[in-house]
Amino acid sequence: MSERGEAVGVIGVGWVGLVTAACFAELGHRVIARDIVPEKVEALTRGDVAIHEPGLTEMIHRNAERITFTTSMEELLEGARLLFTCVDTPPTYSGDADLSRVRAVVAELGEDSGHVLVMKSTVPAGTGESIRRDRPGLSYVSCPEFLKEGTAVADFMHPDRVVVGADAGDEEAADAVAALYAPLGEEGEILRTDVASAEMIKLASNAFLATKISFINEIANVCEEVGADVGEVARGMGADTRIGSSFLRAGIGYGGSCFPKDVSALKMLAGNTGYHFQLLTSVIEVNELQKRRVVGKLEKHLGSLIGKRIALLGLAFKPDTDDMREASSLVLSARLQGEGAEVVAYDPVAVERASPMLTSVEMADSAIAALEGADAAVLVTEWGEFRDLDWAAAAEKMARPLIVDGRNFLDPTAMAAAGFEYEGIGRQARPAPTKVS
Ligand code: UDX
Repeated sequence: MSERGEAVGVIGVGWVGLVTAACFAELGHRVIARDIVPEKVEALTRGDVAIHEPGLTEMIHRNAERITFTTSMEELLEGARLLFTCVDTPPTYSGDADLSRVRAVVAELGEDSGHVLVMKSTVPAGTGESIRRDRPGLSYVSCPEFLKEGTAVADFMHPDRVVVGADAGDEEAADAVAALYAPLGEEGEILRTDVASAEMIKLASNAFLATKISFINEIANVCEEVGADVGEVARGMGADTRIGSSFLRAGIGYGGSCFPKDVSALKMLAGNTGYHFQLLTSVIEVNELQKRRVVGKLEKHLGSLIGKRIALLGLAFKPDTDDMREASSLVLSARLQGEGAEVVAYDPVAVERASPMLTSVEMADSAIAALEGADAAVLVTEWGEFRDLDWAAAAEKMARPLIVDGRNFLDPTAMAAAGFEYEGIGRQARPAPTKVS
């Protein structure tokens, strides 16, 4: 297998690290990927990829000869100069980003090693500057990731942009990082900037996308009051190229490993400098309230929820993943139980991951089983199989065929025809037709 250019080092083979390692190998680079967990490294060396990401396993197998997985920092430092740091930066209790893993990586690099620390992990603006102050012998480049779960491989290979941030003195390091992406050709427009701006680009992009979602969710709530349909409103708004049509799907709010964490991290970062980021405070609050609105919609039809059996369809934070991080289902099930409801749930893949987090929720092994005897259903995650369900048969099995479609995923007219009372988000409620016998 031929290889191009210099070797790429990857630190941390979680989801971002593994996708980064696989894709750089696919682009023809030799990759050395290091993780501190021996079981993970052994499994990956055997070709066992525990992360579900379309195309990833095949890509790792196809490029097996180009990728070495190791626990040894020495092997990594000997084999590669450019070290893509892909460790977790989860939120702390204060909402700041936890940089302990990043600091542990920096501590392992020598004082004057000649290596380039390339930061892929999402870090607060200012992190690069403080690492450079601490380790003047280390070159530092910020190269944030913009990958979406479920399309991460495609996102890497066909990026909207690649951001490479470096400060004075690190121009050569930035050239070397940019060169790694050169095989992407025209696709990966490389945006060269300084470190602090690169760090802010990542946080601001995610915060803006979250703002778009909270904005359309508030528009949806107003649509319900004035008789409009948020889908139509989003279509009309999105046709304006200055607005754009993506990320205008109203629903019960955003979740996942990035948006909640990054919005909070940016708000805290601003707060720590003495600036109150008013808009983001509202974005977060709207997202929290949006999940809770489902309770009001159910109460409108059912009155008190005490003793009512509510079926949640979907638990993962979005379809095609078993990721439960910041999933709306967590807040929703707790709120429903807080109102005295009995909660039963079904998810095509996330049940194993969700069960320990939702110990008092009954898990069903099919959508129909979850709906059986339920007083209402809430569609939480827009899994494809929910569209194909025999809803007329489901209506027969429910104690009351009432559905709150938290993702505006189902066709309201078809659901009414199947015998359901239908409530979406920012859509007009559809009563089920009265049965003529
Ligand atoms: C996101 C960013 O898109 C990515 O660039 C970043 O690197 C990581 O965070 P991801 O978390 O995988 O990626 O999910 P994404 O598909 O962006 O959706 C995030 C959440 O927003 C989901 O809960 C989704 O249901 C919700 N969402 C998305 C909406 O409610 N409405 C929309 O219009 C779009």
